[in-house]
Amino acid sequence: MKERLEALRAEALQELQSVDNPQQLNDLRVKYLGKKGALTEILRGMGGLSAEERPIIGQVGNDVRAAIETVIDEKQNAFLAAETENRLRAETIDVTLPGKALPTGAVHPLNKVAQEIEDVFVGLGYSIAEGPEVETDYFNFEALNLPKNHPARDMQDSFYITEDILMRTHTSPVQVRTMQQMNGKPIKVICPGKVYRRDDDDATHSFQFNQIEGLVVGPNIRMSDLKGTLLQFVQQMYGEQAQIRLRPSFFPFTEPSAEVDVTCVQCGGHGCRMCKQTGWLEILGCGMVHPRVLEMGGYDPAEVSGFAFGMGVERIALLKYGIDDIRHFYTNDQRFLSQFARM
Ligand code: DAH
Repeated sequence: MKERLEALRAEALQELQSVDNPQQLNDLRVKYLGKKGALTEILRGMGGLSAEERPIIGQVGNDVRAAIETVIDEKQNAFLAAETENRLRAETIDVTLPGKALPTGAVHPLNKVAQEIEDVFVGLGYSIAEGPEVETDYFNFEALNLPKNHPARDMQDSFYITEDILMRTHTSPVQVRTMQQMNGKPIKVICPGKVYRRDDDDATHSFQFNQIEGLVVGPNIRMSDLKGTLLQFVQQMYGEQAQIRLRPSFFPFTEPSAEVDVTCVQCGGHGCRMCKQTGWLEILGCGMVHPRVLEMGGYDPAEVSGFAFGMGVERIALLKYGIDDIRHFYTNDQRFLSQFARM
């Protein structure tokens, strides 16, 4: 029996040497040490041994089992170690590899300029008001002292949706909406937003563009307040050296009305091609709120007065950056847009 046990040990150790995966290892464990395995099979014959032989053979059996178990455990540990190492290797990140640069976005130049304009007026104590882009004929025209068939309506070719509803042609309707909301209280707001006109697109026109409206209403608001405000604005936008001049003009919703020019941003007023040798560039329209407009907004022109102004954001931006074609703003050419990312 002793020989059979020694032979079993030799055979098991021999076979274990060539094991190369955990499944195989487990099969051999069952084959040699399992309940129905080879070792148990041999030891079952111990019943026929004498009392002296039994402990000796028992000891050999234990030694053989221990020897086989030792090798199996070693193999098992080796497989575990290899598996852990493989997993760690698969999870390894090489932090020295160069990263992939993601393109960063930036604020669109038009939004940037609009924000700058808003910041100037917020700094002067103005609030921001907004109104709908789909507007009624009443707010867009009637309440701004532009009755049906008024010739000035032709100045603003409109996109009508129904007979009484249109895409707003300017931000001025927000003036009236604000007055109705403020219910007689003093007003100091700017109203930024998109406006729409039936224009053919070219270097200076677009069917959709951006305006910023201003409205101040209260006791004793005078034209000099308007002028001082606009000078402040222009100097913050274009620099301390910038000056303004007001030229008489006409808008149905203001009386008197004026167009405002700023010192040419290109030549500083000496005269150049950009300002057609005049030294001035037109930047906005303004005036004292027409008494009828105050009335339609629910204010008493005998008690309060007001001034208003309206400017095109595109135009302010064209002048600020010396851009010659408004269409650059809308065509999303990255080569154009990316120039403003760092400004
Ligand atoms: N709404 C005018 C336009 O779109 C601009 C304008 C002019 C607005 C004079 C005003 C103003 O508030 O007083 O052309």
